[in-house]
Amino acid sequence: MTHIDRQRVIKSENEMDSMRDVCTTGAQTMAAMISSVKDLQNENAICGLLEFEGRRRGSQMQAYPPVIAGGVRANTIHYLDANNDLNPNETVLVDAGCDLNGYVSDITRCFPISGHWSDAQRSLYEALLYVHEELLTYAHNLEKVRLSALFRRMNELLAASFTELGLIRAKDNLEMLRMAEKLCPHHVSHYLGMDVHDCPSVSRDIDLPPNVVFTIEPGVYVPNDWPVAEFRGIGYRIEDDVATSPSGGIELLTAAVPRDPVEIQRLMGTAE
Ligand code: GLY
Ligand code: MN
Ligand code: MN
Repeated sequence: MTHIDRQRVIKSENEMDSMRDVCTTGAQTMAAMISSVKDLQNENAICGLLEFEGRRRGSQMQAYPPVIAGGVRANTIHYLDANNDLNPNETVLVDAGCDLNGYVSDITRCFPISGHWSDAQRSLYEALLYVHEELLTYAHNLEKVRLSALFRRMNELLAASFTELGLIRAKDNLEMLRMAEKLCPHHVSHYLGMDVHDCPSVSRDIDLPPNVVFTIEPGVYVPNDWPVAEFRGIGYRIEDDVATSPSGGIELLTAAVPRDPVEIQRLMGTAE
């Protein structure tokens, strides 16, 4: 672990206030983008909305080049083109953050561009949302959070949730876990602060003290040749930013943007 990373990974009270500010700004920016996004026809327009909604709230710039991926392009984890046409039937994955006074947020939300989920899109989204909510609760209840423990828990939850959905059909637990790893080939978390993948020299296998900020970001990326046809070509990630709290548990820093599929529709003006 480098000396600088050791200093950066635990936030002072002033830094915690900066992280609360940037995460709230990032979440409000994402929510405002979702509320104007319905029926846009190109990923580029969403990029413009994020820039506008972030800067009008005081953000100096986006935290990193955002991922704005319609349909199957969401399955390319670092898809940065953000310039393809959107098909009215597809969902969009948006991974974006704000940079405010030197600190950054990192948030992902997914939504149907028409404001209406198909049955397959919604049931897969709910299966992933279940995993996300369980991970928030798990992290909150752990006496000492470790990112490596969250990663193991994510893989178990993904395997169980996708088996229940019918996306995974495996003969035993080991095969279930292997298939879950194929559907989500990335870690569940990284540290966050002045940079998006902050403090990379700090191990993810340590008990975290209070005032450490990190992401929780389970995902699912169903390839076009996946055995279960119904969900092919859908990619989702749900990403929030949290901090270990001095009073125990975790504090959710990005609560200002909803995750619930109907709440997302409400923002888009399409909830029934
Ligand atoms: N935005 C990059 C990541 O979520 O790790
Ligand atoms: Mn992240
Ligand atoms: Mn992200």
